[in-house]
Amino acid sequence: MTTIGDALRLGRAQLSSSPSPVLDARLLLAHVLRRDHAYLVAHDDEPLDPQTAAGYEQLLARAAAGEPIPYLVGHAPFMGLDFAVSPSVLIPRPETEQLVETAVAWGEDRETVRIVDVGTGSGCIAVSLARRLPAAEVIAVDVSAGALAVAATNAARHAPSRVGLVQADLLTALAPGFDLIAANLPYIAGHEWPTLPIGVKSYEPRVALWGGLDGLSLVRALLPQAAERLRPGGLVLLEIGWRQGKAAASLARESFPEAEVTVLSDFAGHDRIVMIQAGMIQGRPNK
Ligand SMILES: C[S@@+](CC[C@H](N)C(=O)[O-])C[C@H]1O[C@@H](n2cnc3c(N)ncnc32)[C@H](O)[C@@H]1O
Repeated sequence: MTTIGDALRLGRAQLSSSPSPVLDARLLLAHVLRRDHAYLVAHDDEPLDPQTAAGYEQLLARAAAGEPIPYLVGHAPFMGLDFAVSPSVLIPRPETEQLVETAVAWGEDRETVRIVDVGTGSGCIAVSLARRLPAAEVIAVDVSAGALAVAATNAARHAPSRVGLVQADLLTALAPGFDLIAANLPYIAGHEWPTLPIGVKSYEPRVALWGGLDGLSLVRALLPQAAERLRPGGLVLLEIGWRQGKAAASLARESFPEAEVTVLSDFAGHDRIVMIQAGMIQGRPNK
């Protein structure tokens, strides 16, 4: 009879082309058993019932064919929290945590801030900001109803009654008056599409990835809308593709000619975030 230990060894072998076969096998087995990692370690010799073993083998086969583990188990980590995910949303990426940390560093000494997260997907940015900035008012926008349903689950789980959800195209449905506009919009360019890993291209939603020919179509559309809605002294943070810093910064300067525009790099030294710090315009009341 197959034990937990045998199942983990089988999974590791079957997922050997993954960069993390041990972790992946553990996540899948923990999922079918509805147990945590500590349980698997402590019960190495426990036999699996045939139904559980069959369910696990089915998941292993799907993972080996390229289906991302978070879609198979229905959740993914971000900012130390566990976020529900479904094939309607992008799987939260560790590099997006830098955008959240930058926003928190900017917002934590301010009294009340109005924040909008554009293209919220799973809600990982909006929900993390609501938790880290308890006095902030947070709105999350997405064009996808499926994504908003997932964001609603995550908001209810981690930041109940703190995040307003709006289905809309970018900021078109929202009136001016934001202190912080954060966005991780789709930014894959046409020439990058063929090089995307199969797990991304075949399973993650195209509406969460495709950024037009140069990858900057959504950023180009958002910037003038953001300029009309940002309060004096406000901040815009945009996650971008690793080679888009120069082009995105130049678009930012067109919409925000008076602002300070900076491109922040990630830990690998790649362009990752465009930061637009608006000045305090004298004589113009806050909207
Ligand atoms: C790259 S995903 C980011 C999801 C999430 N913010 C994150 O960081 O994991 C981009 C999101 O933007 C949404 N989106 C695409 N076009 C949009 C538009 N025109 N208006 C609002 N949201 C849009 C997609 O549905 C998707 O959820």
